[in-house]
Amino acid sequence: MNNNYPLIIGNWKLNGDTKEFRSAYVQGLLELLKKPVEKVNVAICPANVHIYELSKKLSPFGLNVGSQNVSTFDTGAYTGEISATMLKELGCNLCIIGHSERREIFNETNVDCNNKIKRLHEQNILPILCIGESQNERENNATHNVLSKQLSESLVDIKITAETPLTVAYEPIWAIGSGESASPKIAQDTHLFIREQLSVLYGNDTSKLVKIIYGGSVNENNAKNLLAQNDIDGLLIGGVSLDPVQFNTICNIATPTFSVI
Ligand code: PGA
Repeated sequence: MNNNYPLIIGNWKLNGDTKEFRSAYVQGLLELLKKPVEKVNVAICPANVHIYELSKKLSPFGLNVGSQNVSTFDTGAYTGEISATMLKELGCNLCIIGHSERREIFNETNVDCNNKIKRLHEQNILPILCIGESQNERENNATHNVLSKQLSESLVDIKITAETPLTVAYEPIWAIGSGESASPKIAQDTHLFIREQLSVLYGNDTSKLVKIIYGGSVNENNAKNLLAQNDIDGLLIGGVSLDPVQFNTICNIATPTFSVI
């Protein structure tokens, strides 16, 4: 992945279970691409069990395949877990962590995120650290406190370098799956705040190495204005990423040189 280009990630969540869906998806996406992708980093994060299959089919075209979660442990008696080492072997090169669904439903904490980032860095897998406030927190002016706590606690003792990179995904919980994306202004203001927090933690130069991408009800209609904002370096897309045509359209919006010819 080239850090100078926008990053567009499709998060399939617990979908894409049939072989027919995956074959049609890959075919649809590749037909639209026609050539290796350029000037944009594109990734699909399916369920772990499908990483190997999708990576074999998509990586020759410059597309990346990632995971939606990783264990805090590397090996041992941890029933049901999958390690960063195992993900790497499957062809995974990025991994979403701290998604609000995992924080809320599976009690994932900032300390877990911290350990997961360490495991991913050991395997050269790019961590996509999700942070975001609830509707209630935004209404009570707690957004900045929530985000800075999520960042500082998740990043304890984490070094950010070209070899151990980090992407932060700002995903306001109220925007996820609601059909109500954050406005470009709200997203930009919040991304700028996140950038400032990163420079408090790491200094100006290092903070610029971190991509900050936006997620929450992104679609073909709002992607352009979101991507036009100074501090929005890419998008994390849930529902709409399940349609290869819409997903491809958004990738094209991210760069005029991408794909369809
Ligand atoms: P959405 O999901 O695009 O369906 O709102 C985004 C996400 O959960 O990453």
